Amino acid sequence: MLQKYDDRNASIKVWVKDKLVDRKNAMISVFDSSVQGGDAVWEGIRVYSQGVFCLDRHLDRLEDSARAMAFSDVPTRDFIKNAIFATLRANEMIDQVHIRLTITRGEKITSGMDPRLNTLGCTLIVLAEWKPPVYDNDKGIKIITSTIRRNSPMNLDSKIHHNNLINNILAKIQANHANADDALMLDNYGFLAEMNGTNIFLVKDNILVTPLPDACLHGITRALIIEIAKDLGIVVQERNISLTELYSSDEAFGTGSMGELTPIFEVDGRKIIDRRKNNITSTLSASFKKLAIDYCTKF
Ligand SMILES: Cc1ncc(COP(=O)(O)O)c(C=O)c1O
Repeated sequence: MLQKYDDRNASIKVWVKDKLVDRKNAMISVFDSSVQGGDAVWEGIRVYSQGVFCLDRHLDRLEDSARAMAFSDVPTRDFIKNAIFATLRANEMIDQVHIRLTITRGEKITSGMDPRLNTLGCTLIVLAEWKPPVYDNDKGIKIITSTIRRNSPMNLDSKIHHNNLINNILAKIQANHANADDALMLDNYGFLAEMNGTNIFLVKDNILVTPLPDACLHGITRALIIEIAKDLGIVVQERNISLTELYSSDEAFGTGSMGELTPIFEVDGRKIIDRRKNNITSTLSASFKKLAIDYCTKF
């Protein structure tokens, strides 16, 4: 799905460092670490009319990523929460909103890789946009397998939610050229890792299966779906999955804050056929929608 420009975002206010600015003035320095090395961490967070979804889980992951990257002078959780709430209030945003929350290592005194050049503290960006879930979750998506591998802890640990997204972007380019909606990425051993921007699940013989979070982001939606499935009495397996298993699965879907639950109807030209007609994806999706409300922080 190619996202479209939304007029409602023309004059939004964006939080940059310590204040709100108009979209046209929402800029960071060319000396900022994110410009020089993708040296930043981020979260994609959804806002429903009931509040900000899974806010503390997102902030936990953000802080973990910043700690793993040895950032210093990271804004406090209260500061970040206030910045998020102030941004949403200033834009009168209540629903159908997606926040791209970023903390960069900050501005450098001169260009270079060394984090000791960052003496000015982190840069916080709260970019809240009007953005309903980005996939057509009724129709679903068609995916292809990319030749680009998803990072494992062997090179760049996917448990850091960092801004160095080049390998996921290269995978997405392959999907675009193949006229597919998204790209499936494998791990170093050829097992499923995740898609370029979402986690992946399959259903086979009523069992819900997803890759271990070794070479994929430990997605917040992913974790919730596992919790919901277990509560519904669905057997869940986290294990290595081969492409053959995906091709012959009964159902498959992606999860993420951008698009919630998105059915996959085709992988590498193979149609996913629900021979059991149980539609576990719909059951999980409906439960997710109901439960999401309980995970919202009002502002
Ligand atoms: C590569 C990747 N996988 C999966 C996800 C989904 O994670 P979550 O459910 O926490 O939004 C994201 C979201 O940013 C992502 O970038």
